[in-house]
Amino acid sequence: MIEIALTLEELVQKTKIKFEEHYGRPARWIVVAPGRVNIIGEHTDYNGGFVFPMGIERYTVLAADLPKKTVHDTVVVKCLRFNETAHIKLSQITRAEPRWANYIRGVIRGFQEKNIQTPALDVVMDSTVPLGGGLSSSAALEIATGTLIEAVTGKNVTQEEKALIGQKAEHEFAGVPCGIMDQFISVMARKNHIMLLDCSNHETQWTEIKNPDVSFLVINSNVKHQLASGEYGKRRSECETASRIMGVKWLRDADMELLESFEDEMPVIPYRRAKHVITENIRTSKAASALSNSLLEETGTLMYESHQSLMSDFEVSCVELDYIVEISKKIGLSGGVYGCRMTGGGFGGCAISLVETKMIPHISETIEREYKEKTGLKCSIFASRPADGARVIEQ
Ligand code: GLA
Repeated sequence: MIEIALTLEELVQKTKIKFEEHYGRPARWIVVAPGRVNIIGEHTDYNGGFVFPMGIERYTVLAADLPKKTVHDTVVVKCLRFNETAHIKLSQITRAEPRWANYIRGVIRGFQEKNIQTPALDVVMDSTVPLGGGLSSSAALEIATGTLIEAVTGKNVTQEEKALIGQKAEHEFAGVPCGIMDQFISVMARKNHIMLLDCSNHETQWTEIKNPDVSFLVINSNVKHQLASGEYGKRRSECETASRIMGVKWLRDADMELLESFEDEMPVIPYRRAKHVITENIRTSKAASALSNSLLEETGTLMYESHQSLMSDFEVSCVELDYIVEISKKIGLSGGVYGCRMTGGGFGGCAISLVETKMIPHISETIEREYKEKTGLKCSIFASRPADGARVIEQ
């Protein structure tokens, strides 16, 4: 069964009502930022390569007002999802509990470093972005926070600066050495468009998805393996090792010919990591142009190849994700599946599938049933059109 989340309007309405219930007056600012799914181009961002993500119709919403009496310099955030409240002291922003508030703390700090001072605030936060599913719930929170600070202070940074503040918050306040994809797409996403981002110079190209007969299905394996956080950093440094050995700034500047010429002197692990990144960059550019020309089968084939490479050369998949891709392949073109692959950092989380819209009920029913038979687990599936990026809804 396809999962239906609250629409953006419903989520906003709910958050507004909760704000009023909690603080006894209406909110003055409402901002929103979407989660994302990456169609192809995985583990390429921190190598200066290409990514091809879109915003999804799952959002983080913040409702806020200045406190009635500013007796202290605190941002109070009531999180509806965890039913927890964070008190963030503005004069002393450091990592602290609750941990979800570190993303907010990091962004407040990032703005302070640009001399933009967040005032004391009362905030309510809610979200429909699944947690821990590789759909960038943390980037959505970072970017929503940045958007709120801009609205409240009336001081804007550039889109790029806002994304980079989010990335820095992730590095310094959550300890995840991520690339730039998640924050860039949460800021810049466009309705009905997928963004080809060149992570070496931040140039973008947009592919419009007009055809209602094709859809993107997000299939959440509902597993998150413990390995995830440590292995991400390890992959990053293995890629850096490969670049160093080849004498290039980053893997974006290498090609297969160069890599093959180093086959004898490069240890096998960095070699395979580099092979994934180099071939993934080619696949990503090809997929963006294939999809722009409505070449769905070609796009799908590239998605399957990407999964294979992430599984065997980059080693960030897991059996649950492999099953989802296997089942999708078995359903095949005749059943309405063009392609499928793991998406995001890996070791669990979601797969993304390009499908024929009218076949969604059949596809999701088959994947759910067979995934359950193989793993004993329930996966969750939803469809999303490419959604707009972060914005102020009310002020
Ligand atoms: C995570 C990171 C991104 C990117 C992906 C893998 O989502 O936050 O920067 O590296 O993994 O493509």
